[in-house]
Amino acid sequence: MTEAELDAVAEAEERIYDFPWTRGNFADSLAAGYGAWLAEEGGRMVGYAVMMQVVDEAHLLNISVLPELQHGGRGSALLLHLFDQARRQGATRMLLEVRPGNLAGQDFYRRYGFAEIGRRPDYYPAHGGREDAIVMARDL
Ligand SMILES: CC(C)(COP(=O)(O)OP(=O)(O)OC[C@H]1O[C@@H](n2cnc3c(N)ncnc32)[C@H](O)[C@@H]1OP(=O)(O)O)[C@@H](O)C(=O)NCCC(=O)NCCS
Repeated sequence: MTEAELDAVAEAEERIYDFPWTRGNFADSLAAGYGAWLAEEGGRMVGYAVMMQVVDEAHLLNISVLPELQHGGRGSALLLHLFDQARRQGATRMLLEVRPGNLAGQDFYRRYGFAEIGRRPDYYPAHGGREDAIVMARDL
């Protein structure tokens, strides 16, 4: 992902989430040097991911597939790419947060070996207040 793609990414993000990241959140991630990737098919963006790595721990911050293309294996392909990238940079563990209400997301992560290791109270904005995050992790 580069600066040039941020409009398209932010537009997709708004279609995918009730509480989307802003264009600025993605720009900040690039500026901070986080790893950020697009999945493309025929020159068209179909998904993207952002990952921060600190020493041996990789933190998955965003993984998303266009709504009309979900459940077609693209998220899996992105996630396997992230495992590979993180390992190459010396990570031995990957962490992520997911909303308790996002059961599909949790199923997706569990399928790839993630297990719940804790909760972060009031982590996410939610309709009518805040929502906890489930923290999941897996060894790489
Ligand atoms: C989560 C996400 C990235 C997964 O990408 P995807 O391309 O849809 O996933 P895949 O097709 O590779 O699915 C792999 C497996 O994950 C599980 N899975 C994915 N979506 C699921 C759903 N809605 N319900 C239950 N399980 C699901 C299934 O086990 C699936 O395997 P199957 O297709 O053989 O049933 C994508 O669905 C997405 O962008 N969702 C909305 C945003 C989101 O929730 N992101 C994660 C936030 S923490």
